[in-house]
Amino acid sequence: MIQLHSEHDIQEHCDSSPTPLVLVPTMGALHEGHFSLIRKAKELAGEHGKVVVSIFVNPIQFDRAQDLDSYPQPIAQDLQHCERLGVDYVYTPKSEDFYFEDRSIEVSENSLSSLLCGATRPGHFNGVCMVITKLFNILQPTAAIFGQKDYQQLAIIRRLVRDLSFRTEIIAHPTVREVSGLAMSSRNVGLSSEELSLAPAIREGLLKARELYASGEKSTDRILSKFRLHLDRRAPLSKIDYLECVCADTLQALTEVDRPAVIATAVFFGPVRLIDNIVL
Ligand code: PAJ
Repeated sequence: MIQLHSEHDIQEHCDSSPTPLVLVPTMGALHEGHFSLIRKAKELAGEHGKVVVSIFVNPIQFDRAQDLDSYPQPIAQDLQHCERLGVDYVYTPKSEDFYFEDRSIEVSENSLSSLLCGATRPGHFNGVCMVITKLFNILQPTAAIFGQKDYQQLAIIRRLVRDLSFRTEIIAHPTVREVSGLAMSSRNVGLSSEELSLAPAIREGLLKARELYASGEKSTDRILSKFRLHLDRRAPLSKIDYLECVCADTLQALTEVDRPAVIATAVFFGPVRLIDNIVL
């Protein structure tokens, strides 16, 4: 495994690398969810291809300086995990080298990013689009893998690739969960033991809502009520940030499930905000 900091060096390696070149973009603090993406990348790269993992806490996607400062960066551990999983290249750029101080070109998404998580995180998804644009241009990966846990991010990246004609194929990976059903996340460590035992209520509520849909219910009001009711019963102290049933492609809210749809939610357990979703 080779770790590279500079754009020039990683480019040289990627340019001379056999294809397919499969990218897993991350911000580090790697957990089982990330590992699963990396294993998938290894599978796609096959015997001859290469896997590149980027580890970069992208400053421009944080809307609060405090979140950026407190983001965990266990780089030595992350590198060990990458080595163990058979990653070929780890790209760890430094922020001051990655972004020009006087950069004046922005990538902005003007439809999907104002909804769901984007409603309370101004600029976040533009920051994601910017870093992914640069990573795709630097590394020229054949394919890149993203987790379905961040459904909105995945939908926006698909839009980015479509609208800007990137040639990288976007691969979606199912959400990796604890045995309890809780979606794995670096935020889970912030939960108290009681919160940890209650947080699986999110997944349970989503499954109940989907069951109701499967039994023939089309009204999103009634489907979402099922979720609310379950969360109220199981975890009364949790607080829903948003709960919506949206079109799987445009993320526009639906009143009736008359096309492929997703229920997406963010729920606070104490100060920790957890997101999850389920495809209908
Ligand atoms: P990060 O939060 O580190 O996540 C990196 C990738 O891992 C994302 O595609 C995310 O969806 C996926 N992931 C995280 N937890 C997962 C889980 N439990 N199951 C499946 N996939 C999971 O998302 C980002 O970083 C950044 O925004 C990034 C795309 C790297 C741009 O900076």
